[in-house]
Amino acid sequence: MQRVLLTGATGYIGRRLERAIRERNDISLRLLVRNAKKLTAKTRRHAEVMEGDSFHPPILRKALAGCDTAIYLIHSMGTGRNFSQLDRTSAENFYNACLAEGVRKIIYLGGLGTRESASPHLASRIETGEILSSRPNQIRTIWFRASVIIGSGSTSFEIIRHLVEKLPVMITPRWVNTLTQPIGIDDVIAYLTEALFLNPSENLQVDIGTPPMSFLQMMEQTAAVMGLRRWLLPVPFLSPRLSSYWLTLVTPVPFRVGSALVEGMKSETLVQNDHARQYFPAIHPESFQQAVQKAISELEHDLVVSRWCDSSAGAVCDIMEPASPNQSVFRDVRTVSFADIPAEQVFAAITSLGGIHGWFSFNFLWKIRGLIDKAVGGYGLSRGRRQSTNLRIGDALDFWKVADLVPNKRLLLLAQMKLPGKAWLEFDLQHDTLTQTAHFIPHGLLGRLYWYSVLPFHFFVFKDLSKKIVQQAAQGQYSPPPFDE
Ligand SMILES: NC(=O)c1ccc[n+]([C@@H]2O[C@H](COP(=O)([O-])OP(=O)(O)OC[C@H]3O[C@@H](n4cnc5c(N)ncnc54)[C@H](OP(=O)(O)O)[C@@H]3O)[C@@H](O)[C@H]2O)c1
Repeated sequence: MQRVLLTGATGYIGRRLERAIRERNDISLRLLVRNAKKLTAKTRRHAEVMEGDSFHPPILRKALAGCDTAIYLIHSMGTGRNFSQLDRTSAENFYNACLAEGVRKIIYLGGLGTRESASPHLASRIETGEILSSRPNQIRTIWFRASVIIGSGSTSFEIIRHLVEKLPVMITPRWVNTLTQPIGIDDVIAYLTEALFLNPSENLQVDIGTPPMSFLQMMEQTAAVMGLRRWLLPVPFLSPRLSSYWLTLVTPVPFRVGSALVEGMKSETLVQNDHARQYFPAIHPESFQQAVQKAISELEHDLVVSRWCDSSAGAVCDIMEPASPNQSVFRDVRTVSFADIPAEQVFAAITSLGGIHGWFSFNFLWKIRGLIDKAVGGYGLSRGRRQSTNLRIGDALDFWKVADLVPNKRLLLLAQMKLPGKAWLEFDLQHDTLTQTAHFIPHGLLGRLYWYSVLPFHFFVFKDLSKKIVQQAAQGQYSPPPFDE
């Protein structure tokens, strides 16, 4: 049986790939993740899990010991200006550990495009691929290269969907005419899975994508699939920087993600080889419209597996904070009794908060807080939630992230809004009492001033929230989610 190490299993591609590999009984799967709590119980049952990151060579060696194949889905985009250096160190560490442990094959997914016209992000993906392919006589590397990936929750699809849904008329900058070759997420997963059974005699670069089209055509075709009429008017004066701000305003992605996409769309990203057809003849990529249709259907049926905001976008796992709510300086505590209502029903109401359900009361105040956050460069409420009732650790939930979840007992949300301090919102069920606590560790004087200035907001919002949760639970409004996929 082939033993495979999968990295990046808590990210957009990795979560879906882990599911696909789980279906196979001829692969023994090991995962290297920065935080095992982000994995569902089902994943932990099917795979051996090791915790650690690619900046610790001894951990990498342990994770790779005895593996035939290693899948590399790690990147450091989002860590700030030194992301290329981190990408380089991470790839070198990984490759050296693969060499030391006798790994025979590496599978890597990077970006499509050439070095001459590459954006800094793409250039770093290319350099990673080169590092991972540097000793073909010892390790064969299958290096996939994809541009825009279309799937529920993918960055590009979310940007396109939000633009198309929200704006009947759009003035479009020049970069929307640049050609690229998008591909559906299911096809990406099919290529990566099939590559586990391909043993090329030398390194292989496999460019994947559907026929060339522009971002403008992608928006037009998405509108057609969604049954919307849209007017797109090209103008010559919208600078890439201005359009990145526009994307930040209208779509859920933060500025750094929007600008990376715009930067990447300045030059064509086209398939340079025919290896996908030659080496994977059984895979016939679905069309752009079919991929959009599938993504929309997953959204409509509440079946989103992973999203662009699942991973931490930072040097360390974002929910493994050194600070903890136990150290909070300020607390807002509310307790409500829920005698006669099953705890599962109360917990189901708690885990349904946010996204399309809103925050149960004073929603306009939450929206104002979201707008303020967006205005100062935060996520606001625009990330919503992955599924309407199901939550897992690591899920983004409006401007929060799920930091802990113990079914029917505890939900801990870590604030990812722009704040002068650290904040959490905790829901704890003990016997027949719900305790809701807002925790805050202020940063200096500004943090303290912030806490006192939002007290009136808290008075209304938090006081009512716990009560509303119990009321909704009493009405049996939300059914307990599965928690284990
Ligand atoms: N998604 C796309 O649209 C797309 C398109 C073309 C190509 N690609 C390529 O596909 C690959 C995977 O992308 P993705 O979208 O799945 O990324 P992602 O969602 O951001 O996931 C990145 C994963 O890497 C993990 N990670 C980050 N730094 C790590 C480290 N130092 N050690 C161990 N794990 C680390 C993250 O863990 P945490 O959860 O702890 O953060 C997360 O699981 C990348 O090479 C990307 O360039 C993606």
